Amino acid sequence: MVDRRREGVKQEAPREEKIPSDRDHLPTQTGVEFIIRFYRLLKGATIYDRKNFIIDRLTQDCLQLIHDILKLDKQLLLKIVRDNLFFNNIRIQMKADKYAILRAFLQEMRKRWIGELEFMEGVGLEDMKDFVYLLIGLEENVESNYLYMKKQLETRGLRAFNVGKLEAYKDEEIYVDSEDQKRQSKEVYFKSINLVKEVMEGVKSQKMLNTRKAKRLMQNAVNAIIQDESTLLGLANIKNYDDYTFNHSVNVAIYAISLGQRAGIPKKHLSHLGMAGLFHDIGKTRIPKEILNKSGKLTAEEWTVMRLHALLGTEIVLSMKEWGELSTRLVDGTFEHHLKYDLTGYPKLTRKKKVSLFGRIIALADFYDALVRPRVYNRFPFVSEKILGFMLERSGKDFDPALVKVFVNMLGIFPLGTLVLLNTNEMGIVVQTSEDTELIDRPKICILYYSDGDYKKTEVVDLREVDEGTRDFKRTIVKTLDPNEYNLNVAEFLM
Ligand SMILES: [Fe+2]
Ligand SMILES: [Fe+2]
Repeated sequence: MVDRRREGVKQEAPREEKIPSDRDHLPTQTGVEFIIRFYRLLKGATIYDRKNFIIDRLTQDCLQLIHDILKLDKQLLLKIVRDNLFFNNIRIQMKADKYAILRAFLQEMRKRWIGELEFMEGVGLEDMKDFVYLLIGLEENVESNYLYMKKQLETRGLRAFNVGKLEAYKDEEIYVDSEDQKRQSKEVYFKSINLVKEVMEGVKSQKMLNTRKAKRLMQNAVNAIIQDESTLLGLANIKNYDDYTFNHSVNVAIYAISLGQRAGIPKKHLSHLGMAGLFHDIGKTRIPKEILNKSGKLTAEEWTVMRLHALLGTEIVLSMKEWGELSTRLVDGTFEHHLKYDLTGYPKLTRKKKVSLFGRIIALADFYDALVRPRVYNRFPFVSEKILGFMLERSGKDFDPALVKVFVNMLGIFPLGTLVLLNTNEMGIVVQTSEDTELIDRPKICILYYSDGDYKKTEVVDLREVDEGTRDFKRTIVKTLDPNEYNLNVAEFLM
């Protein structure tokens, strides 16, 4: 990776960072609401010009809140410290349902090296637009952007705003080239597949395992997901491959890490969660091949054997001394991944105990990935919207209801790689999901064009776009389509 860290960055993070308490709850809610409105305005400014009626509306939404906040708090200051957002010096908790949009706002600011935004009394409509278009027009990865902004604000007489520089710390990567990041994400994905292969084959021949390598790889996966979730989720969503078990294991790890980070699991534990996902099916190495790879329906006896993989996996994990303390985490994955939220499922429990958080996360990830398997494996190829619907239906019985909500928000109603038909009669593939939960049904679509017996990429359109004449959305999804029926390899369009 290109090292773009600059000289003069701080050597250490400040020790006395504010820890939020419950009394801070209300003000941060207002802060979250403000950031969301401000982010929508920023995004709007990238699509529409400043005379568009949508920009007027979004600006008004912001202004109203700015006035309310200033009346009450006398100040409106947003500050970024590392991966945290502060509203009037109180840290904002990245709650799961707002996670994606807050995260997206943070990234937009970080990319431009802006770490502070302040709004003061007397902001008008046109001033606010000036400010937003200035901000969105800043070049990426220019450390001195804040100076340019300050100068512009001064010469334009925009006295109600102030900006500050992003403070960077020694171990922090501020700007990551997106192509570079994509390449790294892919590397992590394919290295993980090889690792699972190695470990599973090693288990069969009772070889010693290289656990350090596995841990490091999952740490890389966590970093890649934090920086560039969409590439890894995209890879997990492409289900065309020959080696189901290995891909499935890596997909479960990816879904689990993404879900875990939204559920508030600290970063240092996320790599353990990834490992637990990676090896949840390790018990399958002890299941006879004839049963494991049987293409037809399993008999009742065969199912009994198949179900043993949860227990066998637990046995394997516990017998491996190299895993050390990590074993308990891995057992959460092996033992619990077919247990349901209401404790039905298998293995049968003799004593009731609650399924662990890791177990609940992996069960969800496993279920989803197992059902969207490609057609060759499935008699009924499920499209993900059906599965997500089913998960919502079984929420509270099979799955932890809070996690299901987070999961659906995370994948969007139309996950990456979904083939869709639009009301304009165009066909396209979802290439980016919306970070705004209110517009969850409006992802970015790569429009396909059919010629010479083949589908080709054309433009990428944003379904959030509104037509100025009719004041209605330009395009809307009518239904999802099965890529197999169109002989489409979704992967080609996603990567
Ligand atoms: Fe399993
Ligand atoms: Fe599985």
